Amino acid sequence: MPSGVRGHPVGVQSGPFPLHDPTKETDVEHTLPALPYAMDALAPHISKETFEFHYGKHHQAYVTNLNNLIKGTEFENLVLEDIVRKASAGIFNNAAQVWNHTFFWHSMKPSGGGEPTGALAAAINAKWGTFAAFKEAFTKSAVGNFGSGWTWLVKKADGSVDIVNTSNAGTTLTSGDKALLTIDVWEHAYYIDFRNARPKFVETFLNSLANWDFAAGNFA
Ligand SMILES: [Fe+2]
Repeated sequence: MPSGVRGHPVGVQSGPFPLHDPTKETDVEHTLPALPYAMDALAPHISKETFEFHYGKHHQAYVTNLNNLIKGTEFENLVLEDIVRKASAGIFNNAAQVWNHTFFWHSMKPSGGGEPTGALAAAINAKWGTFAAFKEAFTKSAVGNFGSGWTWLVKKADGSVDIVNTSNAGTTLTSGDKALLTIDVWEHAYYIDFRNARPKFVETFLNSLANWDFAAGNFA
């Protein structure tokens, strides 16, 4: 279960995110969830070096900061999703970044990209007409997301799909939207492999990395 339950790091997982088991103990520290693939599995698109920093340093730092910040607070024994929904300021920022990054790792896979099929494809076509038009809209949104943040494909309460930008640690967990797929557009996500070329990073994500099986599982 990716990061949903404290002290129970994920292995290679498939199925709906976050594979949450609320019956598990919650009196241990949050841990960095395992990646769903090896650190070099997305190369040459995203390098092992990027994972060593983005996952090994940045994602780990959010976990460490969260554990330090919640000690002795009302959040100490809550599962991650509940902390994100209830906290503010530093605790929210670190908790949301832990969740967002785990969701992002699952939003990619080796030999990803391509197009969704089935009900998700139908929903995308209903919204944008064609998958190409969706890609154009997603790219425009991600490239135009000013500063640091996240761009999401979401399922709205009415069952339709949409593209949503959040800033900084902003997350769909605190809105009525269900996350289907996300891209991290903080500069630390792409600077080692793409330098300042965010458009190339977004293009690579859509063409070679996006995990449409994961998105379809979330949509179902
Ligand atoms: Fe990040």
